[in-house]
Amino acid sequence: MGKDRSGAGAEGGARTVKPPPERLYGRARGHKLRPRQQRLLQVTLPRLAFPKARAGDPLAAFPEPPRALWLEVGFGGGEHALAQIAARPDIGLIACEPFENGLCSLLSRLVPDGEEAHAPLPPNLLLWPDDARVLLRLLPDACLDRLFLLFPDPWPKARHAKRRFVHPALLPLLARVLRPGAQWRLATDDPTYQAWVAEVIATQHLFDAPPPSAERPQGWPPTRYEAKALREGRAPKYWTLRLARQPGEVETRERRG
Ligand SMILES: C[S@@+](CC[C@H](N)C(=O)[O-])C[C@H]1O[C@@H](n2cnc3c(N)ncnc32)[C@H](O)[C@@H]1O
Repeated sequence: MGKDRSGAGAEGGARTVKPPPERLYGRARGHKLRPRQQRLLQVTLPRLAFPKARAGDPLAAFPEPPRALWLEVGFGGGEHALAQIAARPDIGLIACEPFENGLCSLLSRLVPDGEEAHAPLPPNLLLWPDDARVLLRLLPDACLDRLFLLFPDPWPKARHAKRRFVHPALLPLLARVLRPGAQWRLATDDPTYQAWVAEVIATQHLFDAPPPSAERPQGWPPTRYEAKALREGRAPKYWTLRLARQPGEVETRERRG
């Protein structure tokens, strides 16, 4: 473990961390896209993309308004998102991922080759192919029943702590869009990030956070990064946080900064 690999302490500590940068630092593109992948992005993605103009009334963006709304940040290959929408057809899921190869991976599981323009699409899934924070800022108060953040990019170096999605400055935004009592499911296998999450949780009052589980809880479909972590001998931790305060209090806190 290098000297800079720290979740706590002066430079990367939750109380002293710098504000999160607006831009994303992960890759937006990987290897060159094959023709099938290009068709998926050009033809299928627009059919499933969450329309920004509907952000004020997100349930109305689905063909049939779902009973409740869930949102996944950084779905990677889409394994978890697809398992959730299959298990819960009554729920609308907005799945966010800016990485093109991740988008192609999810879309290729939904649509047979050659049917990119016409294959039926699941009515309870919409995609946000961009930074989830941009959408979260546009959503109305208390609209989400569940938030998933599974194996986020760990940014283990202390000087990169400000890039972590779990960031003290982002918590008021998450609290604003979640309903009282809503769940925020969070998992990570990175020891630095695990320590960081524990530290961030300890310095906030918006979310109730029982100790994390060392086993993936029931109803949490596996993800690709989790499988990789387990193969490589790392031990994930799984948090189920709950919004602790009423939205009125949260908004006031957020306005106060
Ligand atoms: C380490 S991967 C994990 C993917 C998946 N959740 C899994 O467990 O297999 C983290 C993913 O989060 C995405 N990501 C990072 N920052 C994001 C943001 N602000 N909004 C949406 N996605 C983001 C990255 O593009 C990357 O695909």
